[in-house]
Amino acid sequence: MSNGKVFSDIAGRYDRLNAVLSLWQDQKWRNTVVSRLPKGRLLDLGAGTGAANEIFGDRRVVALDPAPEMLSLNDGSLRVVSVGEHLPFGDETFDAVFSAYVFRNLDSVDQTMGEMARILKPAGMAGIVDLGRPAGKMASKLHRAGTSIILPIAGTMIGARNEYVYLHSTLDKHPPPEVLLAEAPLELVDTWRLGPMGFVWAALLRKTS
Ligand SMILES: C[S@@+](CC[C@H](N)C(=O)[O-])C[C@H]1O[C@@H](n2cnc3c(N)ncnc32)[C@H](O)[C@@H]1O
Repeated sequence: MSNGKVFSDIAGRYDRLNAVLSLWQDQKWRNTVVSRLPKGRLLDLGAGTGAANEIFGDRRVVALDPAPEMLSLNDGSLRVVSVGEHLPFGDETFDAVFSAYVFRNLDSVDQTMGEMARILKPAGMAGIVDLGRPAGKMASKLHRAGTSIILPIAGTMIGARNEYVYLHSTLDKHPPPEVLLAEAPLELVDTWRLGPMGFVWAALLRKTS
């Protein structure tokens, strides 16, 4: 199942799925990142249904996503169908980039980071939050065993088995954020962990020049 198809298929159910998966903590986790981003013009990269719109305050938000079915449910006024790897914006045009629960789905993190660096103004900030595995080896093993059992069961119960199996397969896609973003063309300012066993990671990066 390709990630594009997953999100086209589940657009109408996405918010509920995400809430269940995160034990209704998804907005709180987004907010730990958004609250550290500057005001001004913000790109919501992989904006989906616009679940974060209510926490952006008075920022001028552009919502970007490759799935029109997701974007059609987004009540933001500026919506763009595209991917993170090719951002259709000029250099140094945004004060902030925010991306929630998207990085596991990217074709290329490096290319997307390059594009984020290009469109950010000097001193602009990027904030990312995504699901992964807990930091320690043992915790990570336990978490993997748990999600391999729980996710398919939860998915079957609400008629979305394929999507939950897809989710399980993506949780191991990336190393921890300190490794994933070590060579990013933005300065890594901070990373932190959230959720049960710290399986959710967040990162804040700054454009230095
Ligand atoms: C799990 S949803 C997250 C949506 C939203 N950010 C939120 O917090 O609810 C992942 C989103 O990433 C989008 N996506 C997938 N591949 C992408 C890419 N290459 N560039 C940007 N967005 C992508 C999907 O279409 C989907 O809407």
